[in-house]
Amino acid sequence: MQELEIIKPDDWHVHFREGSILKAVVPETSRHFARAIVMPNLSPPILEGADASIYQKEIMDAIPENDEFSPFMTLYLTENTNCKNLEDSFKNGLIFAAKLYPAGATTNSDSGVKNIKNIMPILEKMSEIGMPLLIHGEVTNKEIDIFDREKVFIENNLEFLCKELPDLKITLEHITTKDAVSYIKQGNKNLAASITPHHLALNRNSIFLNGIKPHNYCLPILKREVHRKALVEAAISGNSKFFLGTDTAPHFKKDKESECGCAGVFNATYCMSILAEIFDQNKSLNNIERFTSLNGSNHYSLQPNSKKIKLVKRTYPINFMDRIEVEKDSIVVFKPDFPVFWEIV
Ligand code: DOR
Ligand code: ZN
Repeated sequence: MQELEIIKPDDWHVHFREGSILKAVVPETSRHFARAIVMPNLSPPILEGADASIYQKEIMDAIPENDEFSPFMTLYLTENTNCKNLEDSFKNGLIFAAKLYPAGATTNSDSGVKNIKNIMPILEKMSEIGMPLLIHGEVTNKEIDIFDREKVFIENNLEFLCKELPDLKITLEHITTKDAVSYIKQGNKNLAASITPHHLALNRNSIFLNGIKPHNYCLPILKREVHRKALVEAAISGNSKFFLGTDTAPHFKKDKESECGCAGVFNATYCMSILAEIFDQNKSLNNIERFTSLNGSNHYSLQPNSKKIKLVKRTYPINFMDRIEVEKDSIVVFKPDFPVFWEIV
């Protein structure tokens, strides 16, 4: 049996939703993670500090008694964002970061930003006060192929932002391409990227082979194997610009399996096991702590957690649970297409 102790991880990108889903999924994250950045794409979105404060209380109420967990709140940027409220909410510690969704890019992004140039005054203010910008980096133009949307965003938008605002702390979220990996590597010191377990584990075949797999549909969409490999290389390298943001995104099973299925993979439950397996397969367990517990806090100028967790390699693979029952429906739990031997104890 192999064992590994690491500093308790953080998840720098989660979706908790609201109501019954939130109650069901918060414990799945708070079990293994000390802190998480909570996405604001509710319907309606979290636009001001007061919305975030109510939402944070709902999350806190769903944390099991024995878990020590801190949710870090975000605001959803629009072309009408109240700059004074954003500044005040950041300065008084209620809000940790702001999220840029290009309008139409993903779940509940319709009130997002149509043209980044229209929010430059807000971004300038964020740069001035040291507030991180989290970006869903995909263009939404209909003529751009869905598999190219991240690459084109980097060329058309991210490059511009980094040039205009070199002091702005930027996280390019859930990167999916080798192009993103190489852009981030050569970027300025304020630019970093989060990577999800599902983009490390699967390539686009997992959506389409042997029948369509709606539970592997997420955005940005899974890419070719060459891209998955580049993401794995980045994650296992220990490079401080890459860290874990699971993008765990629960949707009801019926909404994933519908005629117009939602994008999102719910991966909170086995995320750390899956990552340990991937790092182990790549003979890089020595770097998992950097990826899950050090690089993210370093990017956000925070101290690492003081607690530790233990990972244990079993001789038999984990028997994954299929789903979490919620109301009269369920949320399907992400599992990769390889056996996973690592457990968190
Ligand atoms: O797959 C995704 N699901 N990607 C996102 O960007 C949003 C998320 C969600 O909220 O469901
Ligand atoms: Zn997300």
